[in-house]
Order: sequence, then C-alpha cells, then structure tokens
Amino acid sequence: MDLKQVLAVCLKDYLHGVLTQEKIYNLIEIPKNPEHGDLAFPCFQLAKLLKKSPVEIATELSEELGKSNHFSKVNPIGPYLNVFFSSKEIGKKVVTEVLKDGHAFGKGSIGENKTVVLDMSSPNIARPFSMGHLRSTVIGNALANLADKCGYKTVKINHLGDWGTQFGKLITAYKKWGDEEKVKANPIQELSKLYVKFHEEAEINHNLEAEARAAFKSLEDGDKENLQLWQWFRDESLKAFMGIYDLLGVSFDSYNGEAFYNDKMDEVVDLLKERKLLETSDGAEVVKLDNNQLPPCLIKKSDGATLYATRDLAAAIYRQKTYQFDTALYVVGQEQTVHFKQVKGVLEKLDFGWADGMHHIPFGLYLKDGKRMSTRKGRVILLEEVLREAIQLAEKNIKDKNPTLVNANQVAESVGVGAIIFHDLKNDRMNNIEFSLKDMLTFEGETGPYVQYTHARAMSILQKAEIDEYEFHGLNDQGSWEIIKHLNHFPDIIENAYNQFSPSVLAKYLIHLSQSFNKYYAKVRIIEKDEELLSRLSLVKAVTIVLKEGLRILGVKAPNEM
Ligand code: ARG
Repeated sequence: MDLKQVLAVCLKDYLHGVLTQEKIYNLIEIPKNPEHGDLAFPCFQLAKLLKKSPVEIATELSEELGKSNHFSKVNPIGPYLNVFFSSKEIGKKVVTEVLKDGHAFGKGSIGENKTVVLDMSSPNIARPFSMGHLRSTVIGNALANLADKCGYKTVKINHLGDWGTQFGKLITAYKKWGDEEKVKANPIQELSKLYVKFHEEAEINHNLEAEARAAFKSLEDGDKENLQLWQWFRDESLKAFMGIYDLLGVSFDSYNGEAFYNDKMDEVVDLLKERKLLETSDGAEVVKLDNNQLPPCLIKKSDGATLYATRDLAAAIYRQKTYQFDTALYVVGQEQTVHFKQVKGVLEKLDFGWADGMHHIPFGLYLKDGKRMSTRKGRVILLEEVLREAIQLAEKNIKDKNPTLVNANQVAESVGVGAIIFHDLKNDRMNNIEFSLKDMLTFEGETGPYVQYTHARAMSILQKAEIDEYEFHGLNDQGSWEIIKHLNHFPDIIENAYNQFSPSVLAKYLIHLSQSFNKYYAKVRIIEKDEELLSRLSLVKAVTIVLKEGLRILGVKAPNEM
C-alpha cells in the first residue's frame, strides 16, 4: 500500500481542484524524525494559491483530516501538516497481504511483456576469474532477479572472452611448453602460466609474436588442430568457472561468447558498407561517430581481423533478433565505458531504434588495503580460493556462536559466500570497495551475516511458538509500526532498485528492516501468552518472508538456523 497515495487522496478531497492529486503526491515528504509523523505535507504552495498563510492552512487541513479514520493523529507543525496513520488498520492490511502472498509479495508488473537481456560475468578463457568478473556476476545476477520480480522476462548471457589474438599466443605457448596432464589438473593456473611465459619469452625471442599471429590467423581460417586446442582450452576453463558459479549460485541462459559471433560479423560489416559508414583510417576500417568526444569505432584491423567491438555489434543485433529485447544491460567495469558508447553510437548510426534500450552498467573496483585488488598480479590468487577462505572463516564464526548446529558446513557456505555477495551489493555500484573478509563476515553491523542471522533468529522464534495458522489483528506499539512501515515499502524498494539498476537500494533496505526487527526483539517479549501473541508472531512471520525473499533476489541464501 502506498501511504503517500492514501494521504494524497484524502487531501485531494479537501482541496477540490486547487492542486491535482499528482502534485499533492509529489509534495508529500517523510519527516526525518519519525516522532513528528509518518508523513508530512508542506503547505507553502497552497498558501499562494489560497492566499492564506501556510500555518493557517496546515491548521485547517489538520482539523479536516482529523475526522478520517485513516489517521490516528494529525498535527500541524508550523507550515507542515504531519500525520500518523492508524497503525492498527494499515498494519492489518500490510501484514495480511505479506502472509497471503508469501514470497510473491512485492511482485510488480512494470516489466510485463518486456524482455531484459543481461550481459554479465563474461570472464576470459584461460585467464583467472578476476574480481571485476565477480562484481559483474553478482551485480548482474541481482539485477536479473530484480527485473524478474518486476515482471520482466530475463535472459542472462555469459559473453565469454573466448576469441581474439590471445588464443594465438596460447596455442603457440602450449605447443612449445605445454603439458596436457598439468593443464587438465589445473586448467586456469597452467594456461595462465603459459600465457605469462609467452610474454616473458617474447621479450627475447622476437619471432614469437609473429608465430602467435600466424597461429591465430590459422585458427580463424579453421585449422583443425588449432581449433581442437582452442575447444579444449575453452571446455577446461568453463569447467573451472562452473565451480565458481556453483558456489555463487548463479546460472546463465546462454554461454554464447565472442567466438559465437565469428560467422555473424560479415553481416555487420556489409551493412556498414552499404550505409556508407565505413571509412579507412591508417589501413583500418572505422566508423566515425557523431559525438566527437568519442574516438572512431574500430571495425576491422589492417590485416582484416575483426575486433572486440565488431563482435559486440554482431552480438547486439543477434540478441535483438533472437530475444527482441526491450532493455539490454551490459554489466561491465567502468574501464569499458568508451567501448560501450561506441557500440551504441554505431548502432544508432544504423538507425536501430532499439539501441535506446542498451545500457552500460559500470561498477567500481575492489581495493585491498587501499590498492587495486587483482587476481592477476604476482601470485595468481584464484577467486575460488577467496571464496573458500570466506567459507572457512564463516565456519569458525558459526562454531563459536552455535557449536551444536547441524549442517554447519552447508550453513558456512551460505554465510561465507553470502557475506561476499552482500558486501558487494550493499555498496553503491560505482564506489570502490575495500575487500576485508573479516569485516564482511561479522554478525554485527551492515553485513550479510547480520541480515541472515536476523532471519534465523526470527525463524527460531516461530519454531518455538509452533503455530500453523497466522493471523494479524493489529498491534499498537511504535516498534511494530516501524517494522510494518518497512514491510509496506518492499514493493517500492524492488521497483526503485531495478529502475536505478542499484541492488544497493535493496541491500540497504534489508539492513534497515533487520535493524527495526532487532530493536523490536530487544524490547518486546514476543512469546508471551496474551491476546496479542498471534499478531506478534504473524508480524515475525511476515519479517521472515520479506527478509528471505529480499536476500534471494540479491543472490544470498537464508538458512533457517545459524
Ligand atoms: N570478457 C570481457 C572482459 O573480461 C568482458 C566482456 C563484456 N561483455 C561484452 N559484451 N563486451 O573484459
């Protein structure tokens, strides 16, 4: 229920024709101090229209509104009209709705009959899964879940980096120094080593680069042996990535990577030619863009090889044909901002109206002790190791807190991985994030484990109470009303988080809901045999529903016990 709407409708009844309901709605504010009211309406604008002082108007309106049974208290505070809703009535509506809808509570309809494709994760074959790929995976997954909750059809695409000149280098290096058994045992580490060795050797042996170019050329021309190697590298790498996706609980609808578009680029190049958009510059073929802040988009190198951008153009056209998307989100680090502007710019020059729906969703970096955190430099720190470490630390924390917990391993996995995901999503997307496992994993403060723990605590209350039919009749205290207002916000939060492409809106909301619940829990004896017992338990039940569903959307599990 939109409380602003309720107030706007009431005010409109008293202000016939002076202000439209929409204007009234937009003027309504949420007081900073909840003790002043649930909502406030400033009367300055009305003053001009009614030729009375705002204070006078606030007083008059409060007398009128005081008659309505929607409000328990209506107060003029200077030029503001402040209202308190009758928490019993509203609470009954809200909690009853949550209990009735269950995990479907908050399902929206803005996305009905619309499709969103998400280009996300997209690691590079034979290279370590970087922290940037982790962010892309986690943010992309949350955005997909948010879109789904808003009613969109979603398509999650892993645009694997499985083509390009680096494969010429890898094939060359493997043929010279590779060992099949070693690669099989540790694909990413071994292939990365070969890649690094290639660059070291190339400093001394100046023929190597040319060999690698020739190897890639023969790969592009369909050389059987090289293609087989490429396929093998791809399969082994994907297997290793799958281990990470399993841990993160993320799946994809498509693994069509860059190589998939090999036979789909001629079409783009022909189209650009036909529209006379291709120009030659230093032997390369480029498209100049209208926005002269942007460098020309490189389509073909002087040796005829196609490029990253060419593949993205082909991919966008293919996705539009295949999925008829309304929105295409590219969840990729901010260092690729220019690239995505160029790609969109070229599609616009081709008069593809649907390019309007393409959005680059950039994000900041992970920092460790203030410096860029990398899975590449020096020792190869594999993301899987980071995740395992988080799980171990979670296990230790859990065993300290609850030594007799059954399924401790499984819970530790949900908590360890959940902590990393939540920490990522709670931060505004563009911010750089300090990566500290210790901070992420504490049960206090604004962490994933804190929200998970709140959920588990609420679940254990319900388990103790052993109720099977919930029914909310109304509660009068301030603590429960704070919780109810939060619950009531959930549908709006989902829509806002999606519209702003900001999972942090939802993550912060879950922290606030948890805080309001924990405050309540500290103050009120929930399992006390009085006439409000069933209402309190129903409220607790509603909290567990929303916390669990909110965490699910973020990609975080909510164990019943921790
Ligand atoms: N593989 C690329 C990288 O690791 C990211 C690909 C992003 N998606 C795209 N359609 N270009 O940098």
